[in-house]
Amino acid sequence: MTFATSRIREEVRRNMRIGILGLGYVGIVNVACLSKEGYTVLCNDVKSQKVDRVKRGESPINEPKVAQLIKEGLDKGTIIPMDDPTELIKQSDIIITCVGTPSRPDGEVNLDYLRNVCSDIARSVGEGDKKYVVFRSTVPPGATEHVFNAHLSETKADITPVFYPEFLREGSAVKDFYDYGRFVLGKREGDDVTDLIEILHVNKERPSFITDLRTAEYSKYIDNSFHALKIVFANEIFSLATEHGVNVKDSHAIFTADDKLNISKRYLRPGLPFGGSCLPKDLRELQHLIGQSEREFSLLPSLIPSNDAFISSLLDKVKRKKKAKLAFIGLTFKNDSDDLRESPMLRLLEALRRDGSYQIHIYDEDLQMGTLRVDYPHLYSMVRPIEECVEAAELLIVSKRYLETLLPLKKRGQEVINFSDDQYLSHPELESLYS
Ligand SMILES: NC(=O)c1ccc[n+]([C@@H]2O[C@H](COP(=O)([O-])OP(=O)(O)OC[C@H]3O[C@@H](n4cnc5c(N)ncnc54)[C@H](O)[C@@H]3O)[C@@H](O)[C@H]2O)c1
Repeated sequence: MTFATSRIREEVRRNMRIGILGLGYVGIVNVACLSKEGYTVLCNDVKSQKVDRVKRGESPINEPKVAQLIKEGLDKGTIIPMDDPTELIKQSDIIITCVGTPSRPDGEVNLDYLRNVCSDIARSVGEGDKKYVVFRSTVPPGATEHVFNAHLSETKADITPVFYPEFLREGSAVKDFYDYGRFVLGKREGDDVTDLIEILHVNKERPSFITDLRTAEYSKYIDNSFHALKIVFANEIFSLATEHGVNVKDSHAIFTADDKLNISKRYLRPGLPFGGSCLPKDLRELQHLIGQSEREFSLLPSLIPSNDAFISSLLDKVKRKKKAKLAFIGLTFKNDSDDLRESPMLRLLEALRRDGSYQIHIYDEDLQMGTLRVDYPHLYSMVRPIEECVEAAELLIVSKRYLETLLPLKKRGQEVINFSDDQYLSHPELESLYS
């Protein structure tokens, strides 16, 4: 794009009108902040009293700085409260839906408000209208696509749906609108969303992830379950501490000061179940301490059963392949360690060995053959060079760093189960996060 055309594009963008449907905590903050950014923001809510409050220059919620920004926007004419959603939809280039998605009694999310808003949009758009519909309400993976297909795909308008997860925290929502961790936008393959990114990603210093709709939708659930996990973890581990004469203030400081292994990306990588000489043993002792407590604990006692269930699911995965000749390419519990204690791959191998119907070979250059002969004589006789393992196997079970070594050796038609380090995160950018 030349300088002149990019200036024209910027001008077009600046003149885009943004319509916001839903004036709750999310909607009104978006109205306030997008108007502060200089855009003309139309807004509506099914509850007319909320629209009336905005018309009077008031905020429908108590949130720092919002009322002041609304007043400023009304004075400048950049905030236009509207009684009629149809008019709002007709006049907006970008429609941001900020309606609630509460839980139904069985826990499933209620998408009715989102459906209603999409029906309003479908009724109000005309042939050839070009609109972006930005879904901001938190919904499970697939919901945006589902609601769009059910309500908006049959219109004669040119509608581009995107999912733009909201990460604000009540109490610091305006600050969070500018000072967010990263910008995330989900879109369909092939859709051009450059203008939206330019408008919505207000803090270009923060990293930006443009991804598919489902990944963007799920990002909220990853974040929120992690926040909940941290809270429950802290409450359980430190309340147990108090029962054993531990100084909680000091132990909290000691724990959080470690930004190498504790408050860090370490151990957040999806992959194999945990194992090794420490985690399982120390969690069993923690379980023992919990057994002496009068308080009920749920999270900490769930760790070993969850890990065991994961091993069982790996075992099922191998068994479902119905192959009798197996090769384990990688066996110790981690790269560059010969330690086999409670290695998940060894637990898998032992379960298959107990079954009795498998011929198993092993390759792992981290193994110490001398130690193996003494401590695990039955495994010693299974170890082979990688070429022999591949030659004899119908199914190759690869873990640790060995996928790249294995793939050139693999024969045609031979199956591989990939439990290797890059089974999910083969993206170079993500790799570097964990190296
Ligand atoms: N509140 C938060 O801190 C927060 C943070 C991140 C994400 N979210 C998500 O954002 C979404 C909105 O949350 P909220 O807290 O702002 O909800 P809210 O209940 O405060 O506001 C929703 C608003 O939508 C209005 N509405 C319903 N149907 C409508 C329609 N057809 N047209 C116009 N308006 C309509 C309601 O009257 C209500 O005012 C939810 O999915 C929520 O999970 C909320």
